[in-house]
Amino acid sequence: MSYVTIAVSPGSFDPLTLGHVDVIERARKVFDEVIVAVAVNSAKQPLFSLTERLEIAREALADLDGVRVEPAQGLLVDFCRSVGATAIIKGLRGGADFDAELPMALMNRHLVGVETMFIIGDQNLAHIASSLVKDVARHGGRIDDLVPSGVADRIHRALRARAHGQENGRTS
Ligand code: PNS
Repeated sequence: MSYVTIAVSPGSFDPLTLGHVDVIERARKVFDEVIVAVAVNSAKQPLFSLTERLEIAREALADLDGVRVEPAQGLLVDFCRSVGATAIIKGLRGGADFDAELPMALMNRHLVGVETMFIIGDQNLAHIASSLVKDVARHGGRIDDLVPSGVADRIHRALRARAHGQENGRTS
């Protein structure tokens, strides 16, 4: 008999960073399949649309065997059930991540009994967060060594478009 283990690696991925890629690669060493679930965090206002976040993640992860990227709207636990995942994978950079993740892990277990497993990412990438990357870019800093190839350009374009939209909004 053969067993297939499936894990879901969820996040808003606004956008996917090298820190995310590291955790996804580590998860894939443990699970037969890792499904990257691009989800909605109702506490955040994303820079990229869901379609764009999916496109960015799919492009960046295209070469990883056993990894696929899917949208997950609604409750994450319903998505996990629909794909037959036995675990949710979250990356930890430090204690603040754990504090944020613990209530979600307990809630998801309460809802359907799904387990959350934590992976410690590469220490050299522990300073990378999508929100910080966007902030550095917004203020003219260099971000191309923080995100997969091509993503820095997309961030700059999206920020320009947003700034342009806000300017037009103010003057009209
Ligand atoms: O990358 P993020 O923003 O920290 O990811 C958080 C995310 C999207 C995984 C979380 O907000 C989530 O699971 N959203 C889906 C809706 C849901 O299931 N909410 C209850 C979480 S206990």
